[in-house]
Amino acid sequence: MRSMVAGNWKMNGTRQDATELVTAIAAQEDFQCDVLICPPFVFMQQVSSLIENSHIKLGAQNVDWHIQGAFTGEISVSMVREFGCRYVLTGHSERRTLFDESDDVVATKFKAVIDAGLTPILCVGETLSQRQASETHEVINRQISAVLDHVSSDEFSRGIIAYEPLWAIGTGKTATPDLAAGVHAGIRQFVAEVDCELAENMRILYGGSVNGSNADELMAMEDINGVLVGGASLKSKEFIAICKAAGAN
Ligand code: PGA
Repeated sequence: MRSMVAGNWKMNGTRQDATELVTAIAAQEDFQCDVLICPPFVFMQQVSSLIENSHIKLGAQNVDWHIQGAFTGEISVSMVREFGCRYVLTGHSERRTLFDESDDVVATKFKAVIDAGLTPILCVGETLSQRQASETHEVINRQISAVLDHVSSDEFSRGIIAYEPLWAIGTGKTATPDLAAGVHAGIRQFVAEVDCELAENMRILYGGSVNGSNADELMAMEDINGVLVGGASLKSKEFIAICKAAGAN
């Protein structure tokens, strides 16, 4: 399966930073993997122009699930699609914890993204206390089941899963390749209970303190089909090193 590297800029950077970063990445040879950038909404037009004719794809960090209407401050799927955006992060842990997005809201957003013909990247993962209580699989299975309650298995198959343990996000504590691969295998097994073929073809990314030094060993694991990168996606050298590692795996 072709690897994917998705950069989530979160709420960082200036217009100038965005130009410098994207220009540096786009100047590279094709990485032989799918490269995705998810900038803040206000930089989407700019990034979209900069990546025109390049191998880089555009994603959104979030969307509202309503089609349109009186939802002050929100952005719809069709709006981001107009800018050439083809992927949307759904259920990132910061959305779940800081903005109170429930499993049900995340599932509704997943469905809205599918309905718009875009690819949702469903983020799942456990907190440190859940891991210590051996609840990792239970938590993740619940997060996935909530989505499967809203969409058909065919619709689910058009999405991507990103396993992001909360204790590894922005902390510098990466899951070891073995630990991450074990959880990925568990996710694949859980999805296989719904549909074997779906599970086999499902792309499962790992996220949480991925950088230019650890990306290679993570993506060398059989069940890790790419990475979702936060902090290191803001530094062109790091991000390019991760993309090169993905292309080599
Ligand atoms: P990080 O963030 O790479 O800074 O840990 C990952 C994410 O939140 O997607």
